[in-house]
Amino acid sequence: MALYLWVQLLLASLVVAADLPTLYEYYTADGISSGLSADQPYFTLNGKNITLYSGAMHYFRIPPQYWRDRLRKLRAAGLNAVETYVAWNLHESQDGLFDFGDGGTDMQQFLDIQQYIKIAQEEDLFVLVRPGPYICAEWEWGGLPSWLLREDGITVRTSDATYMTYVKRYFDKLLPLLAELQFTNGGPIIAVQVENEYGSSPRKDLEYIQQLYDIIRDNGIVELLYTSDGAGSGTSGTLPELLLQTVNFGGDPKGSFDALKNMQPDRPIMAMEYWTGWFDHWSEGHHTVSNDTFRGIYEGILSYPASVNMYMFHGGTNWGFLNGANIGPGDNSNFQPTTTSYDYDAPLSEAGDYTGKYYIAKELIQQYNTIETLLPDQPELMERQAYASVDITERLNYADIIASSLMIESENPIPMEKLAINGNSGQSYGYIVYRQEGLNIPPDSVLTITAHVRDTVMVLVNGALVSQPLSSSADLDGFGYWRQENSQITLTSSEALSDATLDLVIENWGRGNFGNFYYQYKGLTEDNEVLLNDEKLSSWNIYPLEFSKAWLWTLTDWQPIDDVTGTGPALYRGTLTVEGDPKDTYIDMQEWTKGVVFVNGFALGKHAVIGPQQTLYLPGPFLQEGENEIIVFEEFAAADQIKFSQDPIFSTN
Ligand SMILES: *[C@@H]1O[C@H](CO)[C@@H](O)[C@H](O)[C@H]1NC(C)=O
Ligand SMILES: *[C@@H]1O[C@H](CO)[C@@H](O)[C@H](O)[C@H]1NC(C)=O
Repeated sequence: MALYLWVQLLLASLVVAADLPTLYEYYTADGISSGLSADQPYFTLNGKNITLYSGAMHYFRIPPQYWRDRLRKLRAAGLNAVETYVAWNLHESQDGLFDFGDGGTDMQQFLDIQQYIKIAQEEDLFVLVRPGPYICAEWEWGGLPSWLLREDGITVRTSDATYMTYVKRYFDKLLPLLAELQFTNGGPIIAVQVENEYGSSPRKDLEYIQQLYDIIRDNGIVELLYTSDGAGSGTSGTLPELLLQTVNFGGDPKGSFDALKNMQPDRPIMAMEYWTGWFDHWSEGHHTVSNDTFRGIYEGILSYPASVNMYMFHGGTNWGFLNGANIGPGDNSNFQPTTTSYDYDAPLSEAGDYTGKYYIAKELIQQYNTIETLLPDQPELMERQAYASVDITERLNYADIIASSLMIESENPIPMEKLAINGNSGQSYGYIVYRQEGLNIPPDSVLTITAHVRDTVMVLVNGALVSQPLSSSADLDGFGYWRQENSQITLTSSEALSDATLDLVIENWGRGNFGNFYYQYKGLTEDNEVLLNDEKLSSWNIYPLEFSKAWLWTLTDWQPIDDVTGTGPALYRGTLTVEGDPKDTYIDMQEWTKGVVFVNGFALGKHAVIGPQQTLYLPGPFLQEGENEIIVFEEFAAADQIKFSQDPIFSTN
């Protein structure tokens, strides 16, 4: 009897499921005559009412092998749309060199944006695209390529002709790829955003928004165009007669929606960003937003009623050198670099696990959505494994790192971006070394770096570290970090040094994506003078340490080591042997100090003992069966092993 009942129930549910149309069947079964319309106080798509239940997920923060898994998980929660930003700094990492999945750059595997959008459609989702060009997103310089800084006087995010020439050249490549995939052409893209929170920009130049609008339309984008801003920005960043306005917030949905309704009474109401969680900065606390808070606000949105894009639905990872930073007004003193993890405390975790918020969102959408369509089953979770610890077996000494690097001679220091390398695109990411040779250093010598460091500096004399290692957040107030103006360090004790080598190893810890982010040169800039006992140093040898994949493969001078003692920058290497299909894991960097981790040549992310992030998400697809090379660039004190964890670890600050 029990079995019989169970079979009956199963059959009944199959019949119900089979009766439900897919999203595309519901909206397009009778052909497509119109796209998303905002010409009335609610959205219609192809003439039918629609409430958008969307979630943000950025293709460039997710291993491409997992795009389908993450999109299906999003659809299985009942959402009907996915939203993504587009990262210009990845698609055009060098001036005029484009990569949309086959351009041969180190990030190539992430860059087939058309594929991501096509998979979204296969997974029965509509797509919202936010191509920027500025995207904020806690991403390096808000997605702007650093080579723009080679143009003196360029004013990004304005109608400045130099800036717009580059924007147009990029958009003329990107937008045709999106145009093909628009809803009215049979694709999934139903709307496109113009710029990003432009109402919060200090330089509100609406001619810029008009020019972007024209470039977007000229490239065949016919779907709905919109802007998104905090409600407090009013209409200061938009063109109300051309663009739908949407709002961004973390709480009080009614307040923002009422304000939006005031501004555009006869148009649909939508939150383009409802912040489901928050991101972390290094040295600050780990941010979370509770289940109950999330439930209250999300329900407040759905019951208003309004359309909504959850930012983020799945945050993912700021791989390698690609995190952004917040910057206060003025100089670099209030720099706050974002961590590698972009977990965001979102409904899906960094590793794709379902969290409490996932189930709350699913329940509320089910409750409020009156249009029932066929949903997939929730995909099974990926298995994770804490691999056995890997011994560090080899080291590449600092001197050999420098010997393997390009060298540029210059009378005065040059910032990364202005180096004549990479097809005249300069250096975007990593570290840069400024070296003095044959220096006479009298007893008790003091080195001064004027203005603020961008962003950290290690000082070495004859290859030995003389600045302090980073051991706690309080150290960030001392020499070596961005907070101090005109910072000073004593180089020698009572002993004089002759014919000495002085190195300043300076790190770009992420260009600002928010705040006063216009002046984003890294390394030594024209603001910085380097003085030895009040005497300005000149005639430098400059070494750009970009840690590209190709460069890592060329390194040959690895030395076997038994113990890792010693303090100062070096590369360390170990081999992870994987049996069978590689599983996802987290690398546990708690015993290391500060630096960057590379797996099979890929820049996975940064580690810093000050936390809160202590583990790096390592997706299985980045590993292979058999041997895998793990390299750590450690600035201070290495550990003798690389450890693994099944789950992420955050320290409290
Ligand atoms: C579409 O939504 C509007 C606003 O809620 C409502 O007045 C209208 O009846 C709906 N149309 C259909 C066909 O359900
Ligand atoms: C949120 O809900 C999930 C699932 O019910 C639970 O595991 C988790 O602990 C909750 N989070 C908090 C912060 O209470």
